Amino acid sequence: MTVAFTRRDALNEPLDLAGIGIGPSNLSLACLLESVPEVRSRFFERRGAFDWHPGMMMPGVELQSSFLKDLVTPVLPTSRWSFVSYLVAHKRLYAFLNANYEAVPRQEFARYLAWVANGVDGLRYATDIRDVEHRDDRFVLRFDDGQEEAKNLVVGTGASPLVPDWAKPFLGPDCFHNSEAKSRLKDLRAARIVVVGGGQSGGEVVEALLGNPDAMKELTWISRRHNFEPINDTPFSNQVFSPEYVQAYLKLSGEQKQAALKNSILTSDGLSISTIHSIYRRLYALRYLDQSTLNASLSPNRDVIQMERNGNAYRLIVRNHFDGGIEVLHADAVVLATGYRFRLPDALGSLGERISLDRNGYPTLNDDYTMQWTGPRSNRLFAQNAGRYSHGIADSQLSLMAWRSAKIVNTLLGRQHFDAEPDNAQLVWATEAASTTPHQLRAGYSDGLLSS
Ligand SMILES: Cc1cc2nc3c(=O)[nH]c(=O)nc-3n(C[C@H](O)[C@H](O)[C@H](O)COP(=O)(O)OP(=O)(O)OC[C@H]3O[C@@H](n4cnc5c(N)ncnc54)[C@H](O)[C@@H]3O)c2cc1C
Ligand SMILES: NC(=O)c1ccc[n+]([C@@H]2O[C@H](COP(=O)([O-])OP(=O)(O)OC[C@H]3O[C@@H](n4cnc5c(N)ncnc54)[C@H](OP(=O)(O)O)[C@@H]3O)[C@@H](O)[C@H]2O)c1
Repeated sequence: MTVAFTRRDALNEPLDLAGIGIGPSNLSLACLLESVPEVRSRFFERRGAFDWHPGMMMPGVELQSSFLKDLVTPVLPTSRWSFVSYLVAHKRLYAFLNANYEAVPRQEFARYLAWVANGVDGLRYATDIRDVEHRDDRFVLRFDDGQEEAKNLVVGTGASPLVPDWAKPFLGPDCFHNSEAKSRLKDLRAARIVVVGGGQSGGEVVEALLGNPDAMKELTWISRRHNFEPINDTPFSNQVFSPEYVQAYLKLSGEQKQAALKNSILTSDGLSISTIHSIYRRLYALRYLDQSTLNASLSPNRDVIQMERNGNAYRLIVRNHFDGGIEVLHADAVVLATGYRFRLPDALGSLGERISLDRNGYPTLNDDYTMQWTGPRSNRLFAQNAGRYSHGIADSQLSLMAWRSAKIVNTLLGRQHFDAEPDNAQLVWATEAASTTPHQLRAGYSDGLLSS
């Protein structure tokens, strides 16, 4: 999409906001900014067109969150960029409702995102931001065929594949991170395959491999967790994906945050129940109904600690945490479903050195999603999807992206343009919130008691 040439360009005034990366996070922000025409913004994406995790778009994969937690609905349900608007515009609302999905196909949600990304103004594709500099009162973003200046910057470059050091020397067609699974699995003809990582990505890779097991003789799936742990998708636990939880979480000390995060990890990073059922039933059918000769081993509580070449194959050294023993696995191909991690993009260059990092190596974020940096306060640097440790588990998911975008818009404007106040929730997290919630008033507390 081309960006209209405006009077601002002619005057060479900086934008109010430039965004690096157009994934769901910055796309949500771009949608909300439509309702604030006085903010001049532009977002840049290195891909030629919007594409949501194309490397993991295997057949049958599903969304792990509600479609109502789309780009806009939680804060601006009247926006034309809601998932429901997409269904109506594509004449499939009734069909969608009749399909009665327990989880929306990821392919459908990706099409919704791409439809929005094609319609919203101010998005520029095929623009890899190579370098960002802070000069005088603005940021200067450089790309191959030009540059752009902006008073504020929002980094929405997502999380990067996490490849363990032991695997780095072997990356290629038969040793790859799951983010390349779709294209790599297509041509993979390995007899012995090891999948490392027991999260949802590992599960989806195993499910895909079991769907087409012809060339495979051995499949080993390793989880470092105690078992192949399911996602905790129950109401009280899911309350961590709410603004009121974030508000309470922000008040915790560093130690308390680490403990709270550990406690809620499976609300986000567990395996979907449908994936677990699908894998288990497929293994059952292969073993008991099809008399398949595939030797499939599921090995939880294991940690791969080393990898070596062994002729044309690999040897993996694995620690078994049940008994502390060392196991050796032989593989012709290794899929690394070892997770993702936020890192500041290389494009920030020397600017990155001016940003303070916390003990997890993530940027130190203020409550309003600005990064702490040594530059002027009037030039704000926002980060999306970088607050897993500082703001809680929901920050690396889609669930609160609209709310986070609303907070960013409010900070930019210096006023509450969007109502980002927490709901009157059933779970009362913090005492301070409890003392002011209307349901406590209804429960018989008097104004006098509350104010005392
Ligand atoms: C396979 C998969 C499925 C997921 N499914 C769900 C789900 O169902 N529910 C849920 O809540 N969460 C899900 N998540 C977690 C999370 O919501 C997604 O990762 C989401 O895509 C994060 O959005 P983002 O915009 O922050 O980052 P990304 O989607 O990663 O987008 C970042 C964009 O920035 C671009 N970029 C990077 N560097 C530059 C640069 N220098 N210049 C220009 N552009 C750049 C990239 O090309 C990319 O398009 C999933 C994660 C994965 C990996
Ligand atoms: N359908 C969907 O919606 C969908 C699909 C894919 C991903 N996602 C989301 O995206 C996020 C990332 O998921 P993910 O599965 O890619 O990552 P993940 O949940 O972080 O899982 C990666 C796993 O690999 C393990 N691991 C890392 N190094 C290892 C080693 N050397 N040996 C053994 N195990 C090792 C990790 O162990 P530790 O736990 O000990 O660190 C972790 O359990 C999650 O929030 C997930 O829900 C969603």
